Amino acid sequence: PDGRENAGDSRDRLLDMFEAAGGDYLSGEEISRRLGVSRTAVWKRIGRLKDAGYVFEAAPKLGYRLAATASALDMRRIAAELRTERFGRNLTVLAKTDSTQTEAETLARAGAPEGTLVVAEEQTSGRGRQGRAWHSPPGRGVWMSTVLRPEGPLTAVPQLTLLAAVAVCRAIRAASGVEAGIKWPNDLLAGGRKLCGILLEAVVEDGGIRHCIMGIGIDANLEESDYPEELRDRVTSLRRESGTEVDRSALIAAVMNEFETLYALYAESGFEPIRLLWESLSVTLGREIVVRDVRGERRGRAEGLGAQGELLMRAEDGSLAAVYSGDVEL
Ligand code: BTN
Repeated sequence: PDGRENAGDSRDRLLDMFEAAGGDYLSGEEISRRLGVSRTAVWKRIGRLKDAGYVFEAAPKLGYRLAATASALDMRRIAAELRTERFGRNLTVLAKTDSTQTEAETLARAGAPEGTLVVAEEQTSGRGRQGRAWHSPPGRGVWMSTVLRPEGPLTAVPQLTLLAAVAVCRAIRAASGVEAGIKWPNDLLAGGRKLCGILLEAVVEDGGIRHCIMGIGIDANLEESDYPEELRDRVTSLRRESGTEVDRSALIAAVMNEFETLYALYAESGFEPIRLLWESLSVTLGREIVVRDVRGERRGRAEGLGAQGELLMRAEDGSLAAVYSGDVEL
């Protein structure tokens, strides 16, 4: 009978059986009988669940058990919390990958729809802005990449970066209670330390956007010992800030929910409402800052966000400069 059954349904029934077993072993024979599929089909389906990030243990004679991974990323929990039409609906959960950016890029090139989401428990070569590496240890972070297919011109890219920061900031506040703030352009900080980074990579074709990959890295439940020494004073996590473990699956869904709403607002009303939301969540504005970019180092006071998403900075001589790219130090 296997092959004729809907794969999605039987995968879920398989998962239901393992969950009902509460960590006890189920023999391949029993599963095969209860699902009415061959032993080979059972084995293949367990393989697919493993690919989706579920952890199984196999023991001779006993069969398989779902390892107790209450806090593991759970595809079904993510799906259950989604209130979106498109974002996060086409979902891949990976146990380990080099970078979810690369995975999502491959899917986008193969025609994956807007909103396609890839999340991973661990990245072995996570990428940050400006060629930096992104530390992505297993099991505690949110490492996710989403395919965007925006209609607008190339100038939309920096605005989408800011939009992403607003969406993630709102999702973090709602899901964890941590009062995260945005540092220009799109780092999220708590207590002056970084807890989330966003990397928007655009693929350009004929002067237009072919697609973008929006990568989001949130240090959800990382602990001090999860970081290399040199990062420790500059970073924090939601867990460290709130004192409780955050449900990563719910947080991922919250990011998708916020993003879809703001993305629709942007498509309908343009950047202005996003600009105002960004300003209200910013920890950069009103502060003395140092900007480092290709032109070197500049100092001034961050005054606001311009209509394109540029940072407006008042220099000591009273002149107003627009900053389009670079790193800001508070
Ligand atoms: C930064 O602040 O430099 C941006 C960091 C972006 C990290 C995320 S984690 C998921 C996605 N995959 C990557 O390799 N990078 C982004």
